[in-house]
Amino acid sequence: MTLIPWEQAWQQALYGDGGFYRRRVPARHFATATHPPLGPVLAEAVWRCADLLELSGVVDIGAGRGELIHALHRHRPDRPLTGVDVVTRPHGLPDGVGWLQGPGGAPLPDELTGLRDVLVIAHEWLDVVPCTVAQLDDDGVARVVLVDPQTGIEALGDPLVECDHEWQQRYWPLAAPGDRVEIGLSRDRAWADLLARISHGSAIAIDDGHVLLDRPHGGTLAAYRAGEPVRAVPDGSCDLSARVAMDSLYHDEIHTQTAAFEWFGVRSTVPDLRAARCDEADHRRRVERSGAVATLTDPAGFGAFRWVIVRQPRASAPPQPRGGQG
Ligand SMILES: C[S@@+](CC[C@H](N)C(=O)[O-])C[C@H]1O[C@@H](n2cnc3c(N)ncnc32)[C@H](O)[C@@H]1O
Repeated sequence: MTLIPWEQAWQQALYGDGGFYRRRVPARHFATATHPPLGPVLAEAVWRCADLLELSGVVDIGAGRGELIHALHRHRPDRPLTGVDVVTRPHGLPDGVGWLQGPGGAPLPDELTGLRDVLVIAHEWLDVVPCTVAQLDDDGVARVVLVDPQTGIEALGDPLVECDHEWQQRYWPLAAPGDRVEIGLSRDRAWADLLARISHGSAIAIDDGHVLLDRPHGGTLAAYRAGEPVRAVPDGSCDLSARVAMDSLYHDEIHTQTAAFEWFGVRSTVPDLRAARCDEADHRRRVERSGAVATLTDPAGFGAFRWVIVRQPRASAPPQPRGGQG
């Protein structure tokens, strides 16, 4: 049995040779808001946001197989789009769409730099950026959780290093032995690195996350395979994610998705039944759109996702992670 820190095992399982995201098509293992029938409405919201921020193009970090890019392109085929993921450019992306391949996890491709006049979207990227998992032991010490990559058997290792300990104390208080925490510092740093690559533009991280007021107990590390939850074993056979501490990310604003859609004016309207007699296909599209808006803004579901917004990284304070340097 080889016990290593979860962060290391997780990175290898998702992005190493033969890692989950290198071999598998994410959409076959879980559905996100970028997939049909929700993707077109999410794209509509992204373009409304870009309009409000007066930005022309979109860069999609963690673009999967280009699902959101396709939806964005269908709305505005004339606008500059770039996808970034760990795989080579997917087949069938429209001509003119840029694509960059990166190492996966926190590191981004070197060529992703000097971004101008773009809205950078990271939809469900940060929850697959591996992080330190820790647990409070019987003496009240937060220790790094170690795992055997083949079996998923765990043991407690060393106490947290100082910067992780500081982050935990500040953002995710632990109360009782056995309480677990996912230290968000690696996500904070990855986000700060992304912001530093924007010369003129804005960035939005959209994720299933939590803030201090609704921090979960017991940790959120989860695994999925073929749409089903499975035991978290970092052997490359399943997706591994943990919800994101959104409020430790550098931000100007944080909104729930429900509130963000309201702000952009993307609302669910009941289509007029009488119009169906004139144009049935159009009526069907409207009904579908209305259902998708309702799903995306449902406070008990996708509506609870949070949008972390940075309007002008360079104009605001320098985007350093809040939990200290490492
Ligand atoms: C949970 S999936 C989300 C995909 C898509 N954004 C969606 O919401 O459907 C996370 C994606 O992020 C990609 N990813 C992880 N780290 C990355 C990195 N450093 N650079 C680019 N893509 C990355 C993975 O390969 C995977 O496709």
